[in-house]
Amino acid sequence: MRQIIEVPDRYRIVELVAEGGMGAVYRAQKLGAAGFEKTVAIKTLLPKFSRDPAFVDGFIGEAKLVANLIHENIVQIYNLERWGEGYFFVLEFVDGISLYDFIEFHRRIGRMLPLNLAVFITARVARGLAYAHSRRSADSGEALGIVHCDVCPHNILINSEGVPKITDFGIARVTNRAPGGKVAGKLAFVAPEQARGETVDFRADLYSLGIVLAYLITGRMLRNIKLPVTEILENAKRNVLERGILPADLPPEMKTILERLLATDPADRYSDTSALARDLEYFIYKEGYGPTIVTLANYMKELMPGRFGAGSHGPEVVDEFDRTVVLDRTAILDAKAQNGK
Ligand SMILES: Nc1ncnc2c1ncn2[C@@H]1O[C@H](COP(=O)(O)OP(=O)(O)OP(=O)(O)O)[C@@H](O)[C@H]1O
Ligand SMILES: [Mg+2]
Repeated sequence: MRQIIEVPDRYRIVELVAEGGMGAVYRAQKLGAAGFEKTVAIKTLLPKFSRDPAFVDGFIGEAKLVANLIHENIVQIYNLERWGEGYFFVLEFVDGISLYDFIEFHRRIGRMLPLNLAVFITARVARGLAYAHSRRSADSGEALGIVHCDVCPHNILINSEGVPKITDFGIARVTNRAPGGKVAGKLAFVAPEQARGETVDFRADLYSLGIVLAYLITGRMLRNIKLPVTEILENAKRNVLERGILPADLPPEMKTILERLLATDPADRYSDTSALARDLEYFIYKEGYGPTIVTLANYMKELMPGRFGAGSHGPEVVDEFDRTVVLDRTAILDAKAQNGK
């Protein structure tokens, strides 16, 4: 399963960062002339994916679509490279922490992320999404229809400067579209229409971001994930959420934002991602001053001095709810049939 790429003249692998559902992530050096080196992340595609021609076509198409997304809140894609029979992405390396590890760390030490930082992170991610969602073709001016499809705490990284960045744009969407393929996206976060296997638009990302926002605020999941997968899927389709986890003293403006994001019908969500970003920013800046990347970076240093101060690595974080559920369409159709839908 572990696959170390070797492109000795162009990249030098430094270390394995993590292994995810689609492949492995490495820290690497991109080599240039006269000893020039640039730190990059390399994300490989597992052979089982690279061998499926339909998947590879979709994957390359999607990579081209998102190639020019350049925004500080999006992990930049530098290149798609061929290696042997497979492919790998060369990405901006984010020296930081995933939101999942960040919140998991809070949980382990019994702390809560302050509300204004939870909203700040979500607002920055919303700005990155708003940018991607609004991209148009340079030639025809037509909307590109970019949808992330897997907005979740694993795919949001915060760098050591306190800048939140969303990664893996478009990757889940290919998995969704591949003929005979899978419905990807972590079930805890998918919108009802996505769980039902319907065609989705940017509003599916808004829903997932709503679940992420609630997770940042509470440290808990709105969707009960301690159930058998088929039940989680049913609950996702029917938009069953455990709203009771939300704090009773949550400001009403925040409740309203969450309600809109988590609406069952996409038409009841925001019709424009930048309007969501604006509402989140208004919440944190209405008094005239609010959190910035410096506030977040300082908070990270104070919280995890071993990791973000000058020093060694912080404690390892156990990945307890990594329920990356990738279901094949047959399982979804079976579930539909059982429910007479
Ligand atoms: N560009 C990057 N720079 C630094 N670390 C990264 C980068 N991309 C991913 N990582 C790290 O690698 C981990 C795994 O990422 P990866 O996208 O492969 O898996 P995942 O997000 O857990 O699952 P999925 O395959 O569904 O996206 C991330 O949680 C993060 O810690
Ligand atoms: Mg990922």
